[in-house]
Amino acid sequence: MTDIPSVPYSAVFRCIAGCQGAYPLDSLIYCCPSCHGLLEVSHDVGALQRLSGEEWIELFDSRYPARAGTVDASGVWSKREWVYPGLDSRDIIHFSEGNTPLVELPHRVSGLGRGWIKQCGHTQTGSFKDLGMTVLVSAVKRLRRRRPSLKAVACASTGDTSAALAAYCARAGIPALILLPEGKTSMAQLLQPLASGAVVCALRTDFDGCMKIVQKLTEDGHIYLANSLNSLRLEGQKTLAIEICQQLGWRAPDWVVIPGGNLGNVSALGYGFSLLHRLGLIRKRPRIACAQAQQANPLYRAYKAGRADVGSIVARNTLATAIQIGNPVSAPRAVQVLREFHGVVEQASEQELADAAALADSEGMLCCPQTAVALACSRKLVHVGVIGSEDETVVISTANGLKFMDYKRDYHRNDLEGLQCRHANPHHVLEPNLKSVLAFVEQLGRCGLDTNV
Ligand SMILES: Cc1ncc(COP(=O)(O)O)c(C=O)c1O
Ligand SMILES: [Zn+2]
Repeated sequence: MTDIPSVPYSAVFRCIAGCQGAYPLDSLIYCCPSCHGLLEVSHDVGALQRLSGEEWIELFDSRYPARAGTVDASGVWSKREWVYPGLDSRDIIHFSEGNTPLVELPHRVSGLGRGWIKQCGHTQTGSFKDLGMTVLVSAVKRLRRRRPSLKAVACASTGDTSAALAAYCARAGIPALILLPEGKTSMAQLLQPLASGAVVCALRTDFDGCMKIVQKLTEDGHIYLANSLNSLRLEGQKTLAIEICQQLGWRAPDWVVIPGGNLGNVSALGYGFSLLHRLGLIRKRPRIACAQAQQANPLYRAYKAGRADVGSIVARNTLATAIQIGNPVSAPRAVQVLREFHGVVEQASEQELADAAALADSEGMLCCPQTAVALACSRKLVHVGVIGSEDETVVISTANGLKFMDYKRDYHRNDLEGLQCRHANPHHVLEPNLKSVLAFVEQLGRCGLDTNV
């Protein structure tokens, strides 16, 4: 069953600070005209409440698994009434994103008593950004019919937003313009948008510098802004919370630990859990822990100082390049969400994240450095008793480890300045004959091979 119930659902943009005014989702607007603050997509919850929690569960479960090629095969669009109600299915650009695995997390990797890892990097472009980008690019497809003057879509990126934007735009036939901080993304992340045919500009600045420029670039309405300042992205990303609950049998875990940079994703996660709770699909909400790299930790600093105003810092270099952000644009949303979810903020040093990644890798879970920050923070939160030893915890893995091989190569060469590569496992170059391989294996005394055969 894939029919959309005939109840008319609707959503508009509204100011998160509560200013008056509602704006259609297909208006060219990114900030509140009154206070210049952030907007959110506000759903007609009354209309959604006409279905009971049980009926929503039945509807969502009926769409999973779905036949290939249908919009239900997307983890985002199978929840479409909660995402972008009324979007014509012909406008939907998707790669069957979402529906990513929720995998048990060995205690050794995270220190958690009952841990899961949500593998958001198992998707088309290798990160959770696909969840939001399918919504944004589909919205642009619709918008361009009415506004032919809208020439392209642009974003600033630490490497994953750009990969997603380029791929979805390639599929939609929409030009994409990308601003990256030069030398601060991995090789794979630089090549992804190039391969998809986007125009890529590497600027000699950091992410925050690129972000300022793209905001100016998109002001006059000819180029559409694809950063998560644009709250349409968060509507797709919030399906992450819905998927987690669906995979756990329609209940929430005790904790979710999620890496934070620009702080859009932690906000989206909260929006998802809020809606699930309000509409009666889950009985209790989880607590949320936002994990930051110590080198780029504006939210952690504000949290420790008890400040609601996150402000900005200059982010220092970190292996977790995708969260090397000093001036997070979604900070006000994230602060609201963390309050609502009785949240905490933790940080991880470079050594802690490198150790966490290597431990996860050694269990076959090839882990990106941002996910490693979340794993390291989970361990710390268990250690200090914030996360209880019996608490069920979901750690959000935000990207596929394969995107971050440059740093893993250096790790296994034991070549990361200032860090101990305790689990380095370098490869061995040998003569190309059986004798030298057997002699080597024997000398190693590992592998359990009977070398006398
Ligand atoms: C792999 C990865 N993890 C985490 C994040 C952080 O998400 P957000 O910027 O929404 O906080 C990003 C993007 O910034 C990312 O690319
Ligand atoms: Zn406002």
